This record gives sequence, C-alpha cells and structure tokens, in this order.
Amino acid sequence: MRKVFLTISGLVSGLAMLSSCNHNFDHIPVHEKPRWEFSPQMYHSEAYEPVTQIVDKERYKEHYNTMPGNNGMNLRLPVKGTVKRQYSEGAEYKFMEPYKIVKDCLQYAAATVTSPLEVNDKMLEEGKVLYTRYCQHCHGAEGKGDGPVSEKFMGIANLAGGQLVNVTPAHIFHVITHGKGRMLSHGSQVLPEERWKIAHYVKEKLQKQQ
Ligand code: HEC
Repeated sequence: MRKVFLTISGLVSGLAMLSSCNHNFDHIPVHEKPRWEFSPQMYHSEAYEPVTQIVDKERYKEHYNTMPGNNGMNLRLPVKGTVKRQYSEGAEYKFMEPYKIVKDCLQYAAATVTSPLEVNDKMLEEGKVLYTRYCQHCHGAEGKGDGPVSEKFMGIANLAGGQLVNVTPAHIFHVITHGKGRMLSHGSQVLPEERWKIAHYVKEKLQKQQ
C-alpha cells in the first residue's frame, strides 16, 4: 500500500513539475512559440569575424562581438596617409575574367591576347599614375630602366626602346602579371584593368616619345 502511495505521489509531483514549465502561450501562433535553442553559440558566433567592423552595440546586441582589446575594432584601420591602391576613389572598374594564362606561356599570350580596353587620353593618364606608382622606381620616369632602384639592382629593362618596342600590350600585361626573369610578379598588387592601362601607357607614351 505504501509503495502504491509513493508511486502515485511521485507521479503527481512529477507532472506538477512538468506542467509548471508550461507557460500559457496559447494566444501565440504555433510557429512563433518560443522553442529551445540548442547550442546557441553555433548561431551567434562568439568568434571575431575577421573582415567585419561591427561597432554599433545597440543595433547588433548579442551579435556585437568586436574586440575590446583592439580599440573596439576587428579590422585595424589603415594608418593615416595610407595610399589607396586604386587609381582614384571614383574610378570605375570593369569585371574581367580571371587571367588564366600561365607564366611560361609569354609568347602565346603576347600573340593571342587582346586588350579589352579602348585606348583614350583618360586611360593613358590613369596609366601614367599607375606606372609612376608601380614601375617608375625601377624602370624610370621615361622607361629607360634608370629609376633610383637601378643604382643597386642591375639589369632593369629599358621599356622605351631597344627590343621591347615591338612587343604587344599583352606582352607587357603578362610580364606585370607573372614577372619575368629577375622582375617579380606584380599580379597581386595591380588589378587586371590597371595592368592594361599601364601596358598601353608604356606603348603609347613611353615608346612613342622617342
Ligand atoms: C623591382 C624593380 C622592378 C619593378 C618595380 C618593375 N620591374 Fe619590370 N623589370 C625589372 C627587371 C630587373 C627586368 C629585367 C628582367 C629580366 O630580364 O631578368 C624587368 C623587365 C620588364 C619588362 C621586359 C620583359 C621582357 O620581355 O624582357 C617589362 C615589359 C617590364 N619589366 C614592365 C614592368 C612594368 C609595366 C612594371 C610596373 C607594373 C614593372 N616592370 C615593375 C624590374 C622591375
């Protein structure tokens, strides 16, 4: 008898405990009823998102995860006076298919690839700025291979004359992309469109000034 009583009272108190969890959510549509959220860390990542800059605490609430020890930034801002790599703020960039011709195929590229850009004064001007930024210190303002670096680093090619007068813009594009001999690749620094602008600038300005 005692056993039965204990079992029944156990069941009743168990049910009471369970029902106490059951708040009255009857007025809320089924799909909006609060549910258990298993492993919330998976949904609300606590890891710092490397390429984000979430600074608005109010708005992001629990998603606000910016590093307090890093001046409240995930991504450090560039130092003052940093030179942008793009030609200029408003420059428009065309979408270009990735350039897939491998380094060893310079001759093939030079003979078959054509420039997607139309040569005009504006692009040559941009080409000049880019040339000054990326090439001049080695190849010199006039392309003669006499930039300041040439005092220490011998054998910089003369772009303005000699053997290179007959190369195509694609040849220059390919060399900027992959490098050649002792010149290292500039493909990771200069966007494809910018490389074409530089190549045309070399052909149209540096080589024709002779
Ligand atoms: C660090 C110095 C340096 C920089 C920067 C540099 N070059 Fe060169 N470049 C060289 C050297 C050295 C050579 C000769 C490579 C060789 O033949 O070994 C060369 C060769 C070349 C050639 C000749 C390739 C051939 O077919 O023989 C072209 C074209 C060229 N550079 C274009 C450029 C352009 C355009 C830029 C700017 C985006 C640039 N270079 C930036 C050092 C440099």
